[in-house]
Amino acid sequence: MPLLTGFEQIVRQNEPLAMHTWLQVGGAAKYFAEPESPEQLIELIRRCHQEGVPARVLGRGSNILVRDEGFKGMVLHLYAPAFANIKIEGRSVIAGGGALLGRVVTGAVHRGLTGLETLIGIPGTVGGALHGNAGTRGGSIGQWTIQATVISVTGDVLQRQADELEFGYQQSSLDDLVILEAACQLDEDNPQELAKRMQKQWILKRASQPMGHQSAGCVFKNPRGTSAGELIDAAGLKGTRIGGAVVSDRHANFIIAEPECTTEDILRLIELVREQVLQRMGMELELALDIW
Ligand code: EPU
Repeated sequence: MPLLTGFEQIVRQNEPLAMHTWLQVGGAAKYFAEPESPEQLIELIRRCHQEGVPARVLGRGSNILVRDEGFKGMVLHLYAPAFANIKIEGRSVIAGGGALLGRVVTGAVHRGLTGLETLIGIPGTVGGALHGNAGTRGGSIGQWTIQATVISVTGDVLQRQADELEFGYQQSSLDDLVILEAACQLDEDNPQELAKRMQKQWILKRASQPMGHQSAGCVFKNPRGTSAGELIDAAGLKGTRIGGAVVSDRHANFIIAEPECTTEDILRLIELVREQVLQRMGMELELALDIW
């Protein structure tokens, strides 16, 4: 079956990806699909596999940097309600890969379930969060995850049980093409206390990180035992600019993309920061952003 037959309504061609990412830079996707059901998604993945078209999954674009030349394959945007269900039963929370992490966090807190509240304010989807084991110093999503349903590049639906799941700092064994659904097992706690803790965390985040700007999450991972933001700051790099890309004055591990910014500006700024931190602080920084 040809790649797009029957999918004309849900696949667009040469879709600019900038508007689908927080940094709002980068080129277009050759194909951009918004499947409405898991069945459509699976069929699209199978066809991509048969035709040799590379496929990638886009959540909310809060942790990716798209190259200026774009992506010459199929972007699968998990945006439809069918991918965003959230079910809370007893101590377990089952969420679709396309559900917003923030919704899952607040839903759990309102039901008096503790574990995920430290993740408040982390943007993006459950799938994205699991792909990179999103977290804070207070914990990460992986430690609460007991099961996941994924789709492989060949379009096969597989169950990953607790014993197959391994999570580390910004690392996850869930490297299948799609994370369709995941289940977390949480603990019970007093909903009022929990809500207070969540609010406190949110205020702290807002006070220390840039918000309402064109930026993604932290650009670099924290090297063991230290903070990338602190190192970049100590190297005197806050406010450093290349073209429209600037190291945030508020938190040095964020890059702000000003309206005329290009991906090339950001990539050059990333290189400059890495070189300077290595030279001045003797530390190597590893990227946390996904580059497409
Ligand atoms: N600091 C500076 N200058 C800066 C930024 C930070 O001196 O410009 C200092 C702070 O004063 C503090 C230390 O560095 O003493 C640590 O800063 P912070 O508490 O902001 O934590 P972080 O290590 O920079 C990590 C995560 C964040 C997460 C926060 C809060 C990484 C790379 N970053 O940041 O996650 O929100 O802890 O838990 O792991 C992300 O993953 O995208 C992200 C932003």
